[in-house]
Amino acid sequence: MSHYSIKNLEEYYQVYRKSVREPENFWEEIAEEHFLWRKKWDKVLTWDFREPEIKWFEGAKLNITENCLDRHLLNRGDKTAIIFEPNDPNEKAQHITYKQLHERVCKMANVLKDQGIKKGDRICVYLPMIPELAITLLACARVGAIHNVVFAGFSSKALSTRIIDSDCKMVIAADGSFRGNKSLDLKGIVDEALTECDNVETVLMVKRTNADIPMIENRDVWLQPLLDKASTVFDAEIMDAEDPLFILYTSGSTGNPKGMVHTIAGYMVYTAYTFKNAFQYKENDIFWCTADIGWITGHSYIVYGPLANGATTVMFEGVPHYPDFGRFWKIIEKHKVTQFYTAPTAIRALAKQNLSFAEDVDLSSIKVLGSVGEPINEEAWHWYNDIIGKGKSPIIDTWWQTETGGIMISPLPYVTPTKPTYATLPFLGIQPAIMDDTEELKGNQVNGRLCIKFPWPGMARTIWNNHPRYKETYFSTYDNMYFTGDGALRDEVGYYRITGRVDDVVIVSGHNLGTGPLEDAINEHPAVSESAIVGFPHDIKGSALYGFVTLKETGESRVHENLRKEINQLISERIGPIAKLDKIQFSDALPKTRSGKIMRRILRKIAENDMTNLGDTSTLLNPEVVQDIIENRL
Ligand code: WT7
Repeated sequence: MSHYSIKNLEEYYQVYRKSVREPENFWEEIAEEHFLWRKKWDKVLTWDFREPEIKWFEGAKLNITENCLDRHLLNRGDKTAIIFEPNDPNEKAQHITYKQLHERVCKMANVLKDQGIKKGDRICVYLPMIPELAITLLACARVGAIHNVVFAGFSSKALSTRIIDSDCKMVIAADGSFRGNKSLDLKGIVDEALTECDNVETVLMVKRTNADIPMIENRDVWLQPLLDKASTVFDAEIMDAEDPLFILYTSGSTGNPKGMVHTIAGYMVYTAYTFKNAFQYKENDIFWCTADIGWITGHSYIVYGPLANGATTVMFEGVPHYPDFGRFWKIIEKHKVTQFYTAPTAIRALAKQNLSFAEDVDLSSIKVLGSVGEPINEEAWHWYNDIIGKGKSPIIDTWWQTETGGIMISPLPYVTPTKPTYATLPFLGIQPAIMDDTEELKGNQVNGRLCIKFPWPGMARTIWNNHPRYKETYFSTYDNMYFTGDGALRDEVGYYRITGRVDDVVIVSGHNLGTGPLEDAINEHPAVSESAIVGFPHDIKGSALYGFVTLKETGESRVHENLRKEINQLISERIGPIAKLDKIQFSDALPKTRSGKIMRRILRKIAENDMTNLGDTSTLLNPEVVQDIIENRL
């Protein structure tokens, strides 16, 4: 039996048991059978969570792009690797075959080499969702450079912080980007950021919007003329298994963003294997992950995971609401998407719109629906299941993190029976533990903090230039465990439910209340769109609950006082009277990160009446709502 593709629940349990009893044999078999190595490893795994030190496939030599490109040329050369769907629906979609992608990556790799890029150099990538972005990542990997993608929506300050921290000598950027009916001036942001970065020698510029932009002499170079002259042959640099593939920054609860470092072989094996199984990917499927490649979701499940499997992956440049709220569904229809992977925040926004957007299109190609990034609330889950999946396409609620490299807890569609709001079972090879303050809580029906007991190939190996912080953040809360920062419960059948960041737990009169389930309850109210609950100090209860709520129809005509009563009635019914909210504030929007997560940290400060300490709000998607919420604070 091949462990590369799991077909039913019995097989899952069987393979899972093997994967935790003999993890090294398990991963070795997968690595052995499904990838192209220039030299095999001397040792499968070396690990010590106390240092922490983690090495997979040490001694092996490879280039990840030979796995993502070259080896497909023989049988899949004319197969589409990337479908590019532009922002403007009237602009023609592009189908890039494996052969074409290989050529374009080789050309780009030659340009990088000609510009003096060598193995181990860091390159900052600040590009919109256009094919050049995927090509750039692969070209970096082909020459052995370490890519550091910064989401092209982050501010100049966020960009310069990341460029300086990872000491990049090159930036690859575009003149601008199209987002709905707007275009953004990316070059202006780059120029501003680079006033603070002496380390950057070259800026390679991609043309997208044709905006009239200044080019700085001896620094800025147009990419296309260099590509036109470049050769389509490039011998891939032979890399060590544990050489870094990329750095990707993720924000911590405090301090500067953390540059998570992922290394080549383990990341490749893990993203490819999880892609294959979590999406039950079959040859000729059309896979679409709506994330931006600026996030780990895009790295793992737009670029590396799909391409390592020879899959067809969709890259969408635009936004879900342009030209109207039917765009996602029209793209699924147009390209006959079989696996669709998006975030709960998008689902909730789209569920608010007229049903005809989703009902007037043919979604029958869909086989699997994925969710990622935050807990998916019950109402959104059902809408996704009923309206988009027509009740026939399993929803996989995939829990993972930038740090984990790939999916960690998720149903396998058509294998694991799903349960709304549950990420269900650990992925093959993943050993979760639920902890109280010090001990592991064994058995089922337990609730605590989520840790992982044993290494997996896709885990980040360090924080760039700051190994002590890596140790402190993830390996010092518990002895010999990776601490995720999330809370989770394990139900009576062993299914996991992620209850939210553990810092989101509020203790009211000695009762431990996860804000996620409370928000679920509130969101069931027909008038409610989204909600966020935080704690604030209370004389008698210790902490009390403050709810920030947005309504489906702004300018809701009903009296808010009634709505407040109804919401608390719902909470009483679903969770208990103890969980009633002391304060409920209605606002037009909630502050969100660019990846769509509600910034509870800011709401917590507002609820605590501590407006002097809001921290950095500049990276928010919608910083303007903060002032409005403060002014209407209860
Ligand atoms: C945090 C990691 C993984 C790619 C996108 C986010 C939360 C993520 C789920 C889920 C509940 C989830 C966790 C996690 N999260 N997926 N399916 N259910 N929570 O990556 O920005 O590194 O965020 O997102 O709190 O720790 P990230």
